[in-house]
Amino acid sequence: MNKLEMLYEGKAKKVYITDVEDTYIVDYKDDATAFNGQKKGTILGKGIVNNKMTNHIFRILEKEGVPTHYIEELSDRETAVKKVEIVPLEVIIRNVSAGSFAKKLGIEEGRKLLAPTLEFSYKDDALGDPFINDYYAIALGIATREEIDRITELVFKINEILCRYFAECGIELVDFKVEFGRYKGQIILADEISPDTCRLWDINTHEKLDKDRFRRDLGKVEDAYQEVFKRLGIK
Ligand code: C5P
Repeated sequence: MNKLEMLYEGKAKKVYITDVEDTYIVDYKDDATAFNGQKKGTILGKGIVNNKMTNHIFRILEKEGVPTHYIEELSDRETAVKKVEIVPLEVIIRNVSAGSFAKKLGIEEGRKLLAPTLEFSYKDDALGDPFINDYYAIALGIATREEIDRITELVFKINEILCRYFAECGIELVDFKVEFGRYKGQIILADEISPDTCRLWDINTHEKLDKDRFRRDLGKVEDAYQEVFKRLGIK
């Protein structure tokens, strides 16, 4: 498989068209941004951790019956994926209060929620990814009711599988964001699942092992990414 022209360069990844039908190559960078691009930096080795961790988790999810865009890991930073049309929604599940949820509701970070919550943001950098609900998404033609229902079913299933799996590795899954795509009439999991897109805390000490170390200038950013990589036993 060969990379042809670059289709898109995002904050943390490049996507290439390939000479294989319906297949893209994703190339993960070490660049990090936060607060809708206002804070910029580099996290050395992040591209490798995020590529390999996403693939590791997507393989686990596939085995558990969650369809994903994963095809094949090509190198430390590159993966072949199915060519999807991204549904422009950030789909967020929260198990423990943190981040924008804690701030908005004036509650302390770290409160275990009585049930997992689901929220949607409309993916639009210019608007700062505004919070929307399923009715907005349907009214604006972002997704159909059937698609929203399938996304909801899949994301709660992903949460169950990942909470269990991370706990076995000594990590609490506080919250995470995923994106879905349309592929041959189906909704499948796309994008990534990594310390960039999840809040991951040590299950005992609650030490932050994710991108909040970069967002909040907590130091030991690279160490946190490597620690997650090690705990998940990724090769
Ligand atoms: O900032 P907030 O608390 O809303 O983030 C919720 C979760 O979604 C966090 O795990 C964060 O890493 C993730 N997220 C993301 N990309 C964004 C916004 C949030 O991966 N643009």
